[in-house]
Amino acid sequence: MQILTKITEIQAACKQLRIENKSIALVPTMGFLHEGHLSLIRLAKKEADIVVVTRFVNPAQFAPGEDLDAYPNDAEHDYKVTKEAGADLLFEPLSSSMYGENHATWVEVPEMAKFLCGKTRPTHFRGVCTVVTKLFNIIAPDVAVFGEKDWQQITLIRRMVQDLNIPVRIVGGALIREDDGLAMSSRNAYLTKEERSLAPHIRKALLLLDEKVKAGEKSASVLTDIFQKYIAKNIPMASIDYMSVVHPDSLESVENIEDKTLIAVAVNVGKARLLDNILL
Ligand code: PAF
Repeated sequence: MQILTKITEIQAACKQLRIENKSIALVPTMGFLHEGHLSLIRLAKKEADIVVVTRFVNPAQFAPGEDLDAYPNDAEHDYKVTKEAGADLLFEPLSSSMYGENHATWVEVPEMAKFLCGKTRPTHFRGVCTVVTKLFNIIAPDVAVFGEKDWQQITLIRRMVQDLNIPVRIVGGALIREDDGLAMSSRNAYLTKEERSLAPHIRKALLLLDEKVKAGEKSASVLTDIFQKYIAKNIPMASIDYMSVVHPDSLESVENIEDKTLIAVAVNVGKARLLDNILL
């Protein structure tokens, strides 16, 4: 696996691959890779001849006061596991090369960014869409793979790609969990031992809601109430950022469960903001 840091180098490498008629799959990451990321790399491997992984903690998607400076990092581990998972190229640019001093262009999908995470992180998806567009322009992949844990992120990226006619196919990788059900996330590293032992209750709460729906419950407000009470009882130190019952494509709230409904949650446990979701 080749590790490249310069935009011109990765552009030249991808250009050469296209001349050789090789298809390219992109897996964008912010590093500190876990099994969830590796499953995306393995999925990418099935989708194209060459897998390019990017490792870049994108400052534009963090607001002042968020965890940009504390974001966990383990380069040696990332190189090892990325290679083992089958990546061919790893691109890790410097922040200064991705965002010049005069950077003034942003890509936004405001109608969809205002829901869910966008309520408390209003500039987050502007940063995500901008960096993902830049990576698409630099690498020009045939396919790009994103995890479905960040459901809102992949939904916005799909819309952006469609609206801007970006010639890339977006593939979703299933959410990967720890054995006790906690959704894998680099931010799980922030949890203390006690918080980590209680965090799987987020998944348990979602499974409880699934059971209620299967037993006939249709009301989003009743489900919200059940979720809030379950979390208050089982993770006393948690604060719920949101628990939203939405249409999975539009992300608009629904009052009653329909055929296709997503429950998405963000729960703050200590320093970690934990996302999870369930498609009903
Ligand atoms: O999901 C992430 O890790 C990031 O939001 C992404 C897609 C790599 C963009 O920085």
